[in-house]
Amino acid sequence: MTKTCFQDAFLPSCFIILIFLQLLPTVVHGNGNVTFDVIGPNEPILAIVGKGADLPCHLSPNISAKDMELRWYRDKFSPAVYVYERGKNVSGEQMEEYRGRTTFLIDHIANGTAAVRIHDVTVFDNGTYHCYFQEGTYHKEATLWLKVAGLGSQPRIRLRDDKDKGAQAECTSAGWYPRPRVKWRDFRGKVLPSVTNLSVSATSGLFAVISNVKITDRVTEGLFCFIVNPLLPEK
Ligand SMILES: *[C@@H]1O[C@H](CO)[C@@H](O)[C@H](O)[C@H]1NC(C)=O
Ligand SMILES: *[C@@H]1O[C@H](CO)[C@@H](O)[C@H](O)[C@H]1NC(C)=O
Ligand SMILES: *[C@@H]1O[C@H](CO)[C@@H](O)[C@H](O)[C@H]1NC(C)=O
Ligand SMILES: *[C@@H]1O[C@H](CO)[C@@H](O)[C@H](O)[C@H]1NC(C)=O
Ligand SMILES: *[C@@H]1O[C@H](CO)[C@@H](O)[C@H](O)[C@H]1NC(C)=O
Ligand SMILES: *[C@@H]1O[C@H](CO)[C@@H](O)[C@H](O)[C@H]1NC(C)=O
Repeated sequence: MTKTCFQDAFLPSCFIILIFLQLLPTVVHGNGNVTFDVIGPNEPILAIVGKGADLPCHLSPNISAKDMELRWYRDKFSPAVYVYERGKNVSGEQMEEYRGRTTFLIDHIANGTAAVRIHDVTVFDNGTYHCYFQEGTYHKEATLWLKVAGLGSQPRIRLRDDKDKGAQAECTSAGWYPRPRVKWRDFRGKVLPSVTNLSVSATSGLFAVISNVKITDRVTEGLFCFIVNPLLPEK
């Protein structure tokens, strides 16, 4: 259309056509009138520190995403967690933190389903992600939430005799995320008053626990230290 109008050198109608094209809805583009929605999980995805986590998204309707641009990103669009373009991954646009730590799952890409698998999950993977699908100039995205949980080591109890504080039992454990809850109980199940210190490792972001209770005659028959991750049922 524009070509003809330039050949005719009939500028006013040429402008009208161009303006009209601009006003058409964005669903109309070079590859035909394809529209779609991108759907991700409604609920946050629970991932365990050191394990893998899948971040799946799919198209509705379930058209093929094989020739689209697919991008999983966090705060910034680029560099991203993973970028796939027409059958190829674009490693130049991948964040340093995810190099060698992602697999792209494309078995069902003909159905519009794809996922990024993050290996060896760390605390720093916790947060919000977006999956972005683009076909021509048309694009949509969905938001995903990754909730990272660290189940710490088995708590250890040792007895210590502190000159200032008297006899104490100390419970230690490391590898928790997010902030764990610590509780002491005696053999009857009664909660005991305790002093708990939590510290965060700068390298792993995981919490370590040191918790103390005073030992009195009444508690010598049995002492239990409980550490609970608010995201997990165990311990
Ligand atoms: C575009 O939409 C029309 C009707 O809305 C439909 O008949 C036609 O098949 C569509 N074309 C493509 C390429 O999807
Ligand atoms: C992605 O790139 C890596 C190298 O950067 C390569 O080993 C891998 O096979 C590629 N994956 C796909 C799906 O192209
Ligand atoms: C599309 O998905 C259905 C089930 O969701 C599956 O049975 C079918 O094999 C898939 N087709 C392709 C081409 O992946
Ligand atoms: C979409 O998925 C349904 C079943 O889940 C399948 O019957 C249908 O063929 C799929 N459509 C496309 C275009 O893959
Ligand atoms: C971890 O991510 C979840 C989901 O995005 C978020 O709700 C939560 O606040 C994050 N936790 C921390 C400690 O940042
Ligand atoms: C808790 O930490 C503070 C400061 O890091 C320290 O002074 C205190 O002795 C610790 N308490 C216990 C019970 O470890």
